Amino acid sequence: MRIDVFTLFPEVVDHYADSSILGRARQGGLLDLRAHDIRSAATDSHRSVDDAPFGGGAGMVLAPEPVVGAVEAVESAGGMPRPLLLLTPSGRRFDQGVAAELAGSEGFSLLCGRYEGVDQRVADHLVDGALSIGDYVLAGGELAALVVVEAVARLLPGILGNEASAGDESFADGLLEYPQYTRPARFREWEVPEVLRSGDHGRVDRWRRAQSLAATLRHRPDLVRDRGGLSPEEVAMVAELGEVRLLRDHGYDC
Ligand code: 6GU
Repeated sequence: MRIDVFTLFPEVVDHYADSSILGRARQGGLLDLRAHDIRSAATDSHRSVDDAPFGGGAGMVLAPEPVVGAVEAVESAGGMPRPLLLLTPSGRRFDQGVAAELAGSEGFSLLCGRYEGVDQRVADHLVDGALSIGDYVLAGGELAALVVVEAVARLLPGILGNEASAGDESFADGLLEYPQYTRPARFREWEVPEVLRSGDHGRVDRWRRAQSLAATLRHRPDLVRDRGGLSPEEVAMVAELGEVRLLRDHGYDC
């Protein structure tokens, strides 16, 4: 998959993308990530990329010329994958569903905003859409771009050592993940739950499912509502964990 990132900090994007899972994907040729410097398209002698906002106000706005220039330079050199998505807190919320959509595509491109914003003509005439990674404001789109790249890349076939692990976890089925443990079975006074050491796969599956449901109800009741609430069987499973209070607090009779 090819992903092009337009940024004022290509070295930041490249450095992170050379480490860990992204580095392996890049090395193995599964991920063709190309970071482009917006400043390389700046035309004035100071190579400036921002200017004060028309109408007044605090901060600086990323100007249209260098952004459009950087994108057009890549387009005339053979092109980059579309859609080109602007990273901005006012974009569509990025979630696991959007990650899966992008992972199923041939590739896409990301444009990192900086300063107080990006000239609206870029949003109106250059990009194909906009993404936000959550309801908070970052100083620039680079961290958001890396969030998107990593969430998408780890879904690509062949990138994780274990193909099952991309799906078998938080959000893949709209629930938070169950707790995981490894050796030792007893560390200090803290023991791994007996059920996980029982060798009874039926009991383990049921316990994990109940733990996922309980964690989601506790921390993300909105996700439980989105999937239509808990079935009577699911209520029984969570009650078996001893979470009767939690169930009652969320309106379940048990
Ligand atoms: Cl995509 N950009 C910035 N600057 N801040 C954000 C964001 C993006 N998503 C959440 N906050």
